Amino acid sequence: MAAMYAIFLILPALVKASFFQVDYPNVNISSEPNGDLIFEAGQGGDVILKPGAGGTVYIAGVDLRKFIQKVKSLPPIWTKQSVHGSLGTFNSGKSFSVSVEAKDPDGQRIVYELVSGHLPPGTTLNNATGEISGTAPDVDATYQFEIRATDVHGKYADGSFSINIREQDQCVNQPCEHGGTCTDNLNQFTCRCVHGYGGNRCETICSTNSYGVDQSVKHIPDAQLSAHLTYNTYNAHDGRLHSRTGWVGNGTGSFLQVDLGNVSTVYGVATQGYRSSSYYTLTYTVTYSQDGNTFRDAAVSGGNTFSGSSSYDMVIKHDFVTPVQARFVRFYPKVWHTGGLPGLRVEVYGCP
Ligand SMILES: *[C@@H]1O[C@H](CO)[C@@H](O)[C@H](O)[C@H]1NC(C)=O
Ligand SMILES: *[C@@H]1O[C@H](CO)[C@@H](O)[C@H](O)[C@H]1NC(C)=O
Ligand SMILES: *[C@@H]1O[C@H](CO)[C@@H](O)[C@H](O)[C@H]1NC(C)=O
Ligand SMILES: *[C@@H]1O[C@H](CO)[C@@H](O)[C@H](O)[C@H]1NC(C)=O
Repeated sequence: MAAMYAIFLILPALVKASFFQVDYPNVNISSEPNGDLIFEAGQGGDVILKPGAGGTVYIAGVDLRKFIQKVKSLPPIWTKQSVHGSLGTFNSGKSFSVSVEAKDPDGQRIVYELVSGHLPPGTTLNNATGEISGTAPDVDATYQFEIRATDVHGKYADGSFSINIREQDQCVNQPCEHGGTCTDNLNQFTCRCVHGYGGNRCETICSTNSYGVDQSVKHIPDAQLSAHLTYNTYNAHDGRLHSRTGWVGNGTGSFLQVDLGNVSTVYGVATQGYRSSSYYTLTYTVTYSQDGNTFRDAAVSGGNTFSGSSSYDMVIKHDFVTPVQARFVRFYPKVWHTGGLPGLRVEVYGCP
């Protein structure tokens, strides 16, 4: 059996050049009959396996240093929030961002993943930073979930978290005026107005709300004022209430047209005559259209004839008997001041 034993007394100087560096003055390396290789130091001595610069000690193909690091490494520790932490309460419709944070005692990077429960719909977890961000959904709910923080060695710690979402009642301050009905939507409200009122909050009294043809307002641009049969060099775009001039038609069949830009609810009109002259319109009719092709007569109490100014500067306003849906409004002079011409300056009222 002795032949099967290989017993060496090795001095450090002899071993330096070999694969293993032996730092103790003497050590036995023995090859056992069963194939075991035994490194044996003397009493109180250490056997040290020490690769050279950049070298690696492998055991069964495994990097011994990495293996030991893995065995010794500690799992991550949740730091930023208590483990059963609420991450906060957020209002629906609002975007938010919160973070969970775990630290690896070994100082390595952490990957975060959702392992159970649900994040609020519309939010996501950043697997590298632990940031949960997105837009809070339109619900009143608490979302509970577990996030796993895993280090590079596969050691992990799970943390339980929750996020509260509070649906905001956008109608709580009763934003709709004049008896309008409020409907609560995600991060906003809508008002359904009672007849005669408009605007986002029903703040607009449609019958007195001008579209801004008026010279001092000019919400309606020049290009949206046109005319048929204009007298001489007068211009449709001067046919604005309070203009320093006015539009003048050249007789029966001429008209001044206002294009409101889109279809809206028109409640009435007002007119003046041409500024400083005898060109003023005593009666006229109004037609309206949604498409610019088919026009219908608007009605005031008493019929389709609207009374105009009995002097050039007087503003005469009329409400339609029934508001109409229209984009185009035409003014047709019917009777004008004797010896004059049908001059007009106009305004249109309603709710867009
Ligand atoms: C090495 O083996 C020999 C023979 O078995 C023994 O006498 C000696 O004490 C051993 N040395 C060490 C360092 O274990
Ligand atoms: C982390 O997220 C990125 C981007 O969404 C993805 O490409 C990557 O595979 C993820 N990594 C892990 C470990 O889940
Ligand atoms: C009035 O209109 C008619 C018909 O287009 C035209 O023949 C006439 O020249 C116009 N008169 C003036 C003064 O614009
Ligand atoms: C309707 O027309 C008005 C005036 O031209 C304009 O300010 C508004 O933006 C338009 N609205 C839509 C929905 O097109």
